[in-house]
Amino acid sequence: MKSTPPIIDFPLAPPGTMGPPAEYGRLLAHCPVARIDIDPKATAWYVTRYADVRSLIADPRLVRPSISDWPDGSDLGDQDPRLTTMMELEGPEHTALRRALTDAFSVRTVRRYLPHLRQLAAGLLDSLAAGAPRGDLVAGFAEPFPLLMMCDLVGIPYAEREYFLPMADAALGAMQTLGEGRRVTKPLRAFVTTLIDQKRREPADDLLTYLVRECDSGVLAEEAVISFGLSMLIAGYRTTTMFVANSLLTLLAEPGQYARLRDHRELMPTAVEELLRYIPVMNGVVVLLATEDIELHGHTFHKGEGIHIVLAAANRDGSVFPDPDRLDLGRMVNPHIMFGRGAHNCIGSHLARAELTVALEAVLDRFPALHLVDGQPPTWDDESPAKSPLTLPVGW
Ligand code: HEM
Repeated sequence: MKSTPPIIDFPLAPPGTMGPPAEYGRLLAHCPVARIDIDPKATAWYVTRYADVRSLIADPRLVRPSISDWPDGSDLGDQDPRLTTMMELEGPEHTALRRALTDAFSVRTVRRYLPHLRQLAAGLLDSLAAGAPRGDLVAGFAEPFPLLMMCDLVGIPYAEREYFLPMADAALGAMQTLGEGRRVTKPLRAFVTTLIDQKRREPADDLLTYLVRECDSGVLAEEAVISFGLSMLIAGYRTTTMFVANSLLTLLAEPGQYARLRDHRELMPTAVEELLRYIPVMNGVVVLLATEDIELHGHTFHKGEGIHIVLAAANRDGSVFPDPDRLDLGRMVNPHIMFGRGAHNCIGSHLARAELTVALEAVLDRFPALHLVDGQPPTWDDESPAKSPLTLPVGW
């Protein structure tokens, strides 16, 4: 007889921590499919095991719903603008955009960005260190470093960050908490379309200008270029900020880990992969929508139902990662799934890896004796899904 999956509250990281939520272990062991209560008008499932997450994330029968339409799009008319990023694009429009961007995000091209990344990191750390024995590693480094890189690459004015950052964060959070992001749909789209118009008038050496040309020569639709701009604002830097901040906090908080990496730089490639596996940023949830009935463990996800697949839980699955809750900077076999898989896998994964590597190397070089400050713990916004410190006070 089939058992009915239990209904659970959305698992959250313990307050004041990056997580993972305590429930992951129990769900992984005993409950591969649970139902989560997120909206009375929608049915949503929660899937944690590595093999299931790995297969569902690349399953073409599942699409990424826009936060404008799911779990409840009844307040929007057909003509109202949607917050459509690359993730929600499907079919030829998505393929054409991915193809247009292949070279810009390839390993080879990202290698060419390395000197610029190193220069950015060194400059920020010099400013942070100037005149003070301590400072905030988030405001001084983890936040501006990937943001500056993304702005340079894409052609988004860094000087306007105070305008676009709060909207971009609301949209990123909405992928998980739903709600807030809808409020910013119109102004975020307006910000991107204004930028696109500006690139047409004043072309520059950046990705938006290049995509505008592809659009004007008929290769891409205007909507695809807008989606790219929205994707960069929402996915193009904040995840890296969170990873850099949480990685440094983890290395400093776990005895001996910072010194181990400082003194054994040959560990850097495996350390970066292990931090990607270990850090459960935003619970690592991807929301999918079934376009037809799908069976898993004797349970049927019906067409129109949502499935939350939890990358961060999959990355702690003991059947794949021995001793999964231990941070092992030298872990050799590490098929983590933090960048997803399939048609929508993270297009920025090579850039993110380069940013994380350069960030760690630059901090280890500049501050060999970096430490957390007694009596000044990191601060967190426990209402936010970000699960990354707002401030990270350190001394050097
Ligand atoms: C540590 C940092 C990062 C993590 C953990 C991460 C993770 C992910 C994941 C899991 C997906 C797949 C989502 C899905 O299947 O629906 C994704 C997609 C995406 N990421 Fe990243 N990402 C990171 C950094 C970046 C950066 C630096 C960029 C660009 C500058 C970027 C741009 C994108 C885009 C555009 C997509 C959508 C791709 C598509 O739908 O075709 N990401 N990311």
